[in-house]
Amino acid sequence: MDDGKARMVQLYRKRARRYDFTANLFYLIGFREWAYRKQAVAALHLRPGDTVVEIGCGTGLNFSLLEDAVGPQGRVIGVDLTDAMLDRARQRVRYKGWTNVELVECDAAGFRFPESTDAVLATFAIKAMPDYDAIIRQAAEALPAGRCFVFLELVEPGWCPGWLRWLMIRLLSPFGANEDNAAYRPEAVLKRYFPRVLMKTRYFGVALIAVGIAGEAES
Ligand SMILES: C[S@@+](CC[C@H](N)C(=O)[O-])C[C@H]1O[C@@H](n2cnc3c(N)ncnc32)[C@H](O)[C@@H]1O
Repeated sequence: MDDGKARMVQLYRKRARRYDFTANLFYLIGFREWAYRKQAVAALHLRPGDTVVEIGCGTGLNFSLLEDAVGPQGRVIGVDLTDAMLDRARQRVRYKGWTNVELVECDAAGFRFPESTDAVLATFAIKAMPDYDAIIRQAAEALPAGRCFVFLELVEPGWCPGWLRWLMIRLLSPFGANEDNAAYRPEAVLKRYFPRVLMKTRYFGVALIAVGIAGEAES
């Protein structure tokens, strides 16, 4: 693991225990995190029995939404680099009694999507991944035509003045934001690998829900 990823793991090991609580603090500034999560999951257009992979799943905050959509015949696969975040996710799965959730501890860049993958989700995670280009490409290759990769991410809106950009990076630094990953553009990469892309923004353009709809595999 390179230094950047090792630092990310260290950071999320410290955050894991109080992650769910701190994520909710953004409500204090009117950021309707749960509503955006629901909209991102709805954009996956999941069907009962589907297999959905969530990359950077963290403590599993989206799992109840994914479970509701795929049902007991479906499969939820959560992938994350940080053991402590997955420990929290495991506790959630055990508490809820879900038997169709698999948790995989690995770098999303090294994860091999199963052939049965029907949809891929990443919420507040894709910009934590320096290899996001390769990850989005691998997701596009794994998905059947017409199925979706959805990410929900904080982005820099076009109108954003320099001082606000600076403030956002500082505010989000406890979650791994820095000058490097603030410049990542997963939305541009999505357009490279998916023939159809839909985007909608929330919260003054700061929250982006981006949907890539897979095309036929090239032969
Ligand atoms: C801000 S948290 C988001 C967690 C969850 N998706 C949510 O919406 O609450 C980012 C997560 O991405 C994970 N992560 C960072 N880099 C990763 C990588 N290269 N591969 C897999 N997971 C990674 C971190 O461990 C952390 O759990």
